[in-house]
Amino acid sequence: MTHPESELTQLEHIPTRIFGNADAACMTVADAITHLIESRNADGKPAVLGLATGSTPVRLYRELIRRHKEDGLSFANVITFNLDEYFGLPGDHPESYRKFMQDQLFDHVDLKPENTHVPDGMVHREDVFASCQAYEEAIEAAGGIDIQILGIGRTGHIGFNEPGSAPDSLTRLVTLDSLTRRDAARDFLGEENVPRHAITMGVGTILAARQVFLLAWGEGKATIMAKTVEGPQTEAIPATFLQRHEGCSFCIDESAASQLTRIRLPWLVGRIEWTPEVTRQAVLWLAQKVDKPLLRLVDEDYTENGMADLLVEQGSAYDLNIHLFNITQHTITGWPGGKPNADDSNRPERATPYPKRSLILSPEPLDDVYCLGGTINRLKKHGNEVSIAYQTSGNLAVPDVEVRRAIELMIELGEERSGQEDLDYVKTVEAQLDAKGDFGADSTEIRQLKGLIRRSEARSSARTLGLETDALHFLDLPFYEEGRYRRFVAGERDTARMRELLETIRPHQIFATGYGNDPLSVPALSFEVLRAALAACAGSDWIKDCNIWLYKGPAQEWEAHEIDMAVPLSPSELENKIQGIYQHQTQRSQSPISGDKRVNNTWDLAREINRTTAELYDAIGLAEYEAMECLKKFTFDQ
Ligand code: PGA
Repeated sequence: MTHPESELTQLEHIPTRIFGNADAACMTVADAITHLIESRNADGKPAVLGLATGSTPVRLYRELIRRHKEDGLSFANVITFNLDEYFGLPGDHPESYRKFMQDQLFDHVDLKPENTHVPDGMVHREDVFASCQAYEEAIEAAGGIDIQILGIGRTGHIGFNEPGSAPDSLTRLVTLDSLTRRDAARDFLGEENVPRHAITMGVGTILAARQVFLLAWGEGKATIMAKTVEGPQTEAIPATFLQRHEGCSFCIDESAASQLTRIRLPWLVGRIEWTPEVTRQAVLWLAQKVDKPLLRLVDEDYTENGMADLLVEQGSAYDLNIHLFNITQHTITGWPGGKPNADDSNRPERATPYPKRSLILSPEPLDDVYCLGGTINRLKKHGNEVSIAYQTSGNLAVPDVEVRRAIELMIELGEERSGQEDLDYVKTVEAQLDAKGDFGADSTEIRQLKGLIRRSEARSSARTLGLETDALHFLDLPFYEEGRYRRFVAGERDTARMRELLETIRPHQIFATGYGNDPLSVPALSFEVLRAALAACAGSDWIKDCNIWLYKGPAQEWEAHEIDMAVPLSPSELENKIQGIYQHQTQRSQSPISGDKRVNNTWDLAREINRTTAELYDAIGLAEYEAMECLKKFTFDQ
């Protein structure tokens, strides 16, 4: 039974198109830009584009570059204005937005340099006002912006218009929100290096554009997306002011759309078909909404929450309750590798073969123990052949201070033992480190050393979980080794390396993550490499007998209805996992963010996430455990 689109989207104040993936959305926006350029060319007028930086528009820019190179799309008659720039960064700084635009677009198309405008981050403080005014005037002189491209920050910022920005604000100097600075910390190798101020077009400047496309990918944007599209207009979420713009539309992927009411709670906005999946989603939501155990839900709870037709279809609350209780109960297992010699008809994983070859894929060292430390420990204790493959080296996430410490140690050791050749090598690396400055790119040697530091941490962590170090595989996928954040491109060499590992291990179960993440992130690319490698293994026998279990990734967890396997952790198992996380010493200053939760370090957040899941199971009337790790079963036609 379907229902009109307008009914489903009744709570949405901005036209929002949901695409299967980011590339499909980018095609649509690239079409609009192409059309604009061509029609302006026909009129002999320039096309004026408002451009954004960040991970979000990178795929759009790649498509525009492709159209330029392959289809002859010319930018000779295009004028561009970028949204913002960090205050205090010169245009050639690796993290400046001017540099970003040169690398990601300008240097690859026939835009005239004088037609590209990015706010000047180096303007003197006393000249900022005049410079901002001049920026506004330049936009006006160009005829105003025809198409403005936007990303959205998790604060709800557009450009760097942080919460508190007025709808009529213009180009100006602003202070960055602490969440925004945390999100940029990785690019700047530490939050302390992220500039505190920026120059940004105002909300009013953006609203003056004739057409606006806001893009968003990945579940990290899902919460702010729902608030922006469905919530009231408020300075607390500047993006909500886009609701005022007639020519604004959002082009987002399914993950970024996942918190919209039409996806998350579709029964509240229309008549829907009660498939087993939606029923599960709805009943588990209901128990949490009315704060009752499943078995205590009554007919009124259903009827008062948009689920009266489900009751009619399914009989009574009692039947539904017990059905969902059983389904949820059967997700709990202390045997993530399957329980040998046990009836497995209601267990998440099959009993045979036993022992299993279990392969844990970790996009970077730390993801494994962080998300699955308890599960890995149990798999091993139960006698399975557990391997962990670290897909990338993770060397970009090692601060210089860590590598300097390692270098000093090696030099001291070399001097004491007078191994002159080794010493020369290490001193060369030290000189490279001295020369590179705060944001210079790491040399191959520095990256290698940083990668080795992470390997040693991974080994130490795996030992805590009961694994021998020969169970570890370091794939060092080339997309990462040869790339930088926001600039990764995975290819055939990555697939080949992944495939080789799969064919060597021939796993019965694979634990992976990255599905639904921002497509340019390390986990998402690692997942795409897995997808391609599995496709390449399609002819192999083992693959027919291989289950794929998805873990969600740091700082988040599956929602109740998505969990197909919940692995309980006792208090001591949880503490053992935390010990494993501690071993990743170079990552200790990372301060991950999870939704509204702000936690100061990785281990506290891991503990909190695993405990929260256990509390959820308890609250809906299942057994009360200390902590739980969760997995979702996956098949690749998804
Ligand atoms: P992102 O940033 O594209 O890197 O996610 C978007 C923004 O902050 O506007």
